[in-house]
Amino acid sequence: MLGRYFKYLLQSKTRYKVHSPFVFQFINEVLRTQADINYLNQYCSRLRSNETLIDIQDFGAGSRKQKSNKRKVKEIYKNSSSSPKKADLIRRICEFVNNNFTILELGTNLGVATYAISQSPKCNKIISIEGCPNLYEFSSNILSGIPNVELINSDFDSALPSILSEHSLNAVYIDGNHTYQATLDYFKIIQETEVELVIFDDIHWSEGMLNAWKEICSHEQYHVSVELFNLGILWRRSEQRKEHFTLRY
Ligand SMILES: C[S@@+](CC[C@H](N)C(=O)[O-])C[C@H]1O[C@@H](n2cnc3c(N)ncnc32)[C@H](O)[C@@H]1O
Repeated sequence: MLGRYFKYLLQSKTRYKVHSPFVFQFINEVLRTQADINYLNQYCSRLRSNETLIDIQDFGAGSRKQKSNKRKVKEIYKNSSSSPKKADLIRRICEFVNNNFTILELGTNLGVATYAISQSPKCNKIISIEGCPNLYEFSSNILSGIPNVELINSDFDSALPSILSEHSLNAVYIDGNHTYQATLDYFKIIQETEVELVIFDDIHWSEGMLNAWKEICSHEQYHVSVELFNLGILWRRSEQRKEHFTLRY
């Protein structure tokens, strides 16, 4: 992982070496914006100190750090949730090109990114899928009452095709089941729709994830691909020639 990070640092560009106006604007408006994550403090501090035990049903590639199936919320938060900084970055990426977006998140977990995205004034709706019934129940309780959030308890494979056909989605954020095959399978279904923005988390999680990301980047239907070490971002922009950017963040 350390070796890969050094390689990323060597390859990554600052805004002065980027010639695409779209990506230059993305760097200025999204990456270089001073993040104000205060709105996430209350949500995350409740999780950080929460001793409730949750019986976890492991889905996808599972967790590398935890063995027992009963875990405290505060441990799940530490090991599997997005940090407030990352959750806010995902929100800003979604806001960048769309003033009224509907997004699907694969992997609710404790709802950190779900909550962050839902708080965007530009978020029409966030639908989030979680396979583990107890995590789903826990997150449903803490996110209840937020009108633009819809949580679904299902495995991704069963829910993805119907959600994609029933909703007009602008974006998909994939943050679960980090395996080569699953990532390519999800992408294959998504690219057949009109979804303009796809965000992949943990692209450096394993050799398989990195290979999946490289294959995905070569796909003709998405014209701009950006790598921010752990995050991979794709945009459909037919007005732009196909180009890949590894950006310093
Ligand atoms: C890394 S966590 C998501 C973190 C969350 N997006 C956040 O920002 O805090 C991944 C979640 O995806 C769920 N998951 C993994 N594979 C799944 C699958 N195939 N179907 C449904 N849920 C899955 C796991 O149970 C876990 O809660």
